Amino acid sequence: MTQMNAQDVPSMGRRQFMNLLTFGTVTGVALGALYPVSQYFTPIRAGGSGGGTTAKDELGNPVTSSGWLAKHPVGDRSLVQGLKGDPTYLVVEKADAISNFGINAICTHLGCVVPWNSGANKFICPCHGSQYDTNGKVVRGPAPLSLAIAHVSVEDDNVLISQWTETDFRTGDKPWWG
Ligand code: FES
Repeated sequence: MTQMNAQDVPSMGRRQFMNLLTFGTVTGVALGALYPVSQYFTPIRAGGSGGGTTAKDELGNPVTSSGWLAKHPVGDRSLVQGLKGDPTYLVVEKADAISNFGINAICTHLGCVVPWNSGANKFICPCHGSQYDTNGKVVRGPAPLSLAIAHVSVEDDNVLISQWTETDFRTGDKPWWG
């Protein structure tokens, strides 16, 4: 069982993650205020068949595929809490399908959480300007490496995230995060 500790995510990253998750929707902020903060720090439970960690939304609730697809259009990249609580983008590939890989939002330069910019069709880091393409492959420094990726699978409508240990299909290299 993986314990989600504050130390697992750089404090800068966590703070920005919280900001990103609650930014932009009054409802989200209001619910967030009502929801006990301690819920953010409950252990992340593994999926029923060992298929990975259950993705959690900004309130700490498990993410379901049907619920996610009802709210997020094709092409959308929005954050969930993934492995070790890392902010991770789910990619909506088709109207009825979430992509089988998720993109870790922590910048490989100094750890800022990188927002998705749908206008530019890139992830652009606000800290020092690094850019990543739609799949999180680095296209402009100073970031030295592409964003980490993780497997995303759906079991009984639950969205599960697990380690990506195979070759990184974007670069043809071994994962640097393994
Ligand atoms: Fe992202 Fe420096 S932390 S560019």
